[in-house]
Amino acid sequence: MDQLPLGHPSGAQSARGLLRFLTCGSVDDGKSTLIGRLLYESRQIMEDTLATIEKDSRKHGTTGEDVDLALLVDGLEAERQQGITIDVAYRFFATPKRSFIVADTPGHEQYTRNMATGASNSDLAIILCDARKGVLTQTRRHTFICSLLGIRHVVLAVNKMDLANWDEATFDRIVGDWATFAAGLGFATLTPIPVSARFGDNVTQKSGNSPWYRGPTLLAHIEGVDAEHGADQKPFRFPVQWVNRPNLDFRGFSGTVASGRIAVGDGVVVAASGRQSRVARILGPDADQPVAAAGEAVTICLADEVDVARGDVLAPLADRPEVVDQFAAHLLWMDEEALLPGRQYLARFGNLWTTASVTSIKHKVDVNTLERQPAKKLDFNEIAVCNLALSQRVPLDPYAENRATGAFILVDRFTNRTAGAGMVDFALRRATNIHAEEFLVDKAARAALDHQKPLVLWFTGLSGSGKSTIAKLVEKALHAEGRHTYTLDGDNLRHGLNKDLGFTDQDRVENIRRVGEVAKLFVDAGLIVLCSFISPFRAERRMVRELMQQGEFVEVFVDTPIEECMKRDPKGLYAKAVRGAISNFTGVSSPYEAPEAPELRIDTLGLTPEQSAELVLSHVRRRLDA
Ligand code: ADX
Repeated sequence: MDQLPLGHPSGAQSARGLLRFLTCGSVDDGKSTLIGRLLYESRQIMEDTLATIEKDSRKHGTTGEDVDLALLVDGLEAERQQGITIDVAYRFFATPKRSFIVADTPGHEQYTRNMATGASNSDLAIILCDARKGVLTQTRRHTFICSLLGIRHVVLAVNKMDLANWDEATFDRIVGDWATFAAGLGFATLTPIPVSARFGDNVTQKSGNSPWYRGPTLLAHIEGVDAEHGADQKPFRFPVQWVNRPNLDFRGFSGTVASGRIAVGDGVVVAASGRQSRVARILGPDADQPVAAAGEAVTICLADEVDVARGDVLAPLADRPEVVDQFAAHLLWMDEEALLPGRQYLARFGNLWTTASVTSIKHKVDVNTLERQPAKKLDFNEIAVCNLALSQRVPLDPYAENRATGAFILVDRFTNRTAGAGMVDFALRRATNIHAEEFLVDKAARAALDHQKPLVLWFTGLSGSGKSTIAKLVEKALHAEGRHTYTLDGDNLRHGLNKDLGFTDQDRVENIRRVGEVAKLFVDAGLIVLCSFISPFRAERRMVRELMQQGEFVEVFVDTPIEECMKRDPKGLYAKAVRGAISNFTGVSSPYEAPEAPELRIDTLGLTPEQSAELVLSHVRRRLDA
C-alpha cells in the first residue's frame, strides 16, 4: 500500500508566518519550472545542489545555457522514487518575510492525495494554466477541488505569457473565464497573475514585459496574503497513531495534534467509547511539555487506565466529534475502475481503517458548469455528493469544521490503490434508534433442530456454465438425505425481489448485495442455502463471504469455457448477445472475474452434470460431518 504521510513535517507548523500552499497543474503547464524558480530565486537551494544542476543542465537541459529549473524539482522527484514512497513531497523555502511549505506531488494524483494526506491544510493554491490554452476543464476541476478542500486563497498563474506575446487581451480573457467560474465557490481571494516561469517574469521580479499588469508578483502575493488557517483555534483533536507501552509502568498515546491545543490537567474523552480521563503528561520529542498545539507530534499520558487503541480520537469533554457509521460526503473518484454503490472499499479516517460503501449517489457535479447531474456510478475524476455507510462507528467532524477529522480516503480492496478521497458533509443519524434485537431462539438452536450445519453453497460462473443444473441435482440429493435446503437463483430472484435490476455493473453489485443479505437470513434460519448467480465480480463474492461466519461459505466455481457456454446456449442468449440484441452480456460485452481461490472448482467439460454434482456433494458432506 502506498504510504500516506499524515499531518505536518514535524515542527514546521509552529514557525510564525508560515504559509502552506499547493500547486495544481501538469508538468506541461510549467509546474516544476515554477516551483524550481521559487526555490532558486529565494536562494534556498544549497550551493552544491546548484552546482550539480548547472552541470546537468549543460548536459541534459532544454534551455540552452540557462539553468533548467525543472531539473531541480524533477531531480528531487527521481530521488524520491528510489527511496521511500511518499506521495506528497514537501519543499521548504523562506524569504525574509515569510517561510513556505509547498506540497507537491507527481501527475494527476496530487489533489486527491493532498486532500487525504494532510496537505489539505494548505492555505493557498496556485493553479497553473498555459496562456496559449486558457481555462481548460482541468483548470476548472482544480479550482473546484480547491474549494472543496476548503482552500481559501487561490492564484491563477497564467504561465507561458512569453509564448502568448505578453498580450493583455489574452490574459484578460482567461481571467474573465476563470473569475466567472470561480465566483460562486466561496474563496476569500482570487488572484490572477501573468507569468513566465521559464524566464522569471512576475515570479519574484516585476516584469518589463507586462506594463499593463498592476498587481503583485507571485512571491509578493504569497508573502503578503493573510491566511491564518486557525487549526490552533479549532476544538482539540488527537488521532492516536500508536499506543506506546515500553513497559508496565508507562502507557502513552502517540500521534500528531490534528487541531486545537491541550494542556496537562485538561479533561479528555476517548471519542468512540466515551470514556473520560485527564491529561497527566505530554511528552514532546525531547522532554515533557505543558501544552501541545496543532501540528505537534507528542505522546499523551492519561491519569486513568482507559482503553485507547490506534485510530481512537482524544477530544475535549465538551466538544466531541460525532461517532457515526453513516454520513453524507463529497467524494472525488480517482480510480480507473468506477465506483459502484453497494461495493465495499477500505476506508481510512486518520489512523483508523474500516470498510465503507456508498449507499446512494445523490448527484454528481459537472466540473465545467457546476451543474448537478443524476448518477448511478462514478467514473475517473468525477465528483459527487454521496451517502456512505461504514462497518463500524467512527469519530468524525464535518470537513468544513475540521479538515483533519473530516477527510477520508477509499482504497480498492484488491489493488490497494487509493481510489477516492472524500470530505464529510454531515453525519446521518438515521439508524441510531434501531438496535439489534436478540432472540431467544438462535441460529444454533434452529440448525440443531434440523441436525445440520448451516451453509452457503455459492455457485458462480458464466451464463450457461451449468450452475443451476448442478445446484438442482445437489439440492435434490441433500434433500433426500434429510437436509433442510433452499435455493436462491438469479433468474428466479430477478422476477421478484430484484425485478427492478438490470445488468449494468452497478445493478449486478446491488443484485448480489441483496442476495447476500437474503442468504445470510436463510443461514440464520439454519438452512443449507444454494445460490446460483453469475456474480461476475470478485468484490461482491468476497462481500457475501464476509457476511457469513468462518467456514459457512463455500464458493463453487463452475468453470466452463465461454466457447462451450456459447455452444450450449440453453436460452439462446449468447446468440442474441453476439448479434448485439442484448447489451452488457457476461463474457461478451461485460466482464467475468474468475475466482482465484474458490473452495471448489468444477471443470464441467469432461463431466456429466451428475458427476459435477457428486463433487459438490462429497465436499459438502465432508464439511457437514467435520
Ligand atoms: S448477475 O450477474 O447479477 O449475478 P444473475 O445470475 O442474477 O446475474 O442473472 C443471470 C441470468 O440472467 C443469466 O443466466 C441469463 O439467463 C439472464 N440474463 C439476461 N441478460 C443478461 C445479461 N446481459 N448478462 C448476463 N445474464 C443475463
